[in-house]
Amino acid sequence: MTQSNAPKQTGGGLAFNRVRTGAGVPLVLVHAFPVDSRMWDGVIEHLPQDLSIYTVDLPGMGSSPAPDDVARGTGFDPVPALELAARALADLVSSEGVDRAVFVGLSMGGYVVLALLENNPELVAGIGLFDTKTTADPEDGRLNRLRIADQVEHDGDVGAVLPMATTVVGPSTRAGSPQIVDRLRDWIGDQSPAGVAWAQRAMAARPDRGAVLSRFDGPVSVLVGEEDELSPVEGSRLMAQSARNGSFEVIPAVGHMTAVEAPAQVARAITALLSRVR
Ligand code: MLT
Repeated sequence: MTQSNAPKQTGGGLAFNRVRTGAGVPLVLVHAFPVDSRMWDGVIEHLPQDLSIYTVDLPGMGSSPAPDDVARGTGFDPVPALELAARALADLVSSEGVDRAVFVGLSMGGYVVLALLENNPELVAGIGLFDTKTTADPEDGRLNRLRIADQVEHDGDVGAVLPMATTVVGPSTRAGSPQIVDRLRDWIGDQSPAGVAWAQRAMAARPDRGAVLSRFDGPVSVLVGEEDELSPVEGSRLMAQSARNGSFEVIPAVGHMTAVEAPAQVARAITALLSRVR
């Protein structure tokens, strides 16, 4: 087994980290908006040492190239769409010689995992859908995303999404662990306006993928923070019920950023998911 905190590599046009090389089906962790793969650091500390683990930065986020460059590299249409992120992710794992992996996505990461499941089901051994949903945005949510995308481009900074550092965590975390809000604000502040604008437009364009989830035979872990206001508990429960082989867990007293607010519990859920993979 090797472990690496080395600078990121590039595969499928995306920056990624081969965190550890171990046995069994590899685990690929896909981050939320508007942060990057650092949000998984706390979870990784609690995962078994003998796992293969990859983290990845989505187009324009973290250390990944601008979305237009990722699109050029994959030969994909440059119009903002999560299918580009999914395609680049598929290319990345294939370039690593990985035939099948377990993909865990939190929120936007979950949207990307569902797009990957639709387009490359052969690569998917199991999925974790954390604080996310299969549904498309309602019209007002979609228009709000397009407004924010225009604003960050116009402003040339990501100030318009900095308040998310507060809203993505639950009231218990805001009161008891304010340093988590500070950390999220730092991570959000590191993102590029182009990446944030692209991600907002790509999420606004995503279709409902409920049917994609309900067709999948493999293990599905649905997890949500009790205080998640962006992907509420009831919707997550229904999502888990719609899966053929789903499990469901609510983490008490945390919000939308479960992986940052409650990394040990999230690592336990991932370990349980991996034990269900055949
Ligand atoms: C995220 O955490 O990735 C975002 O809240 C997703 C979204 O805006 O739908």
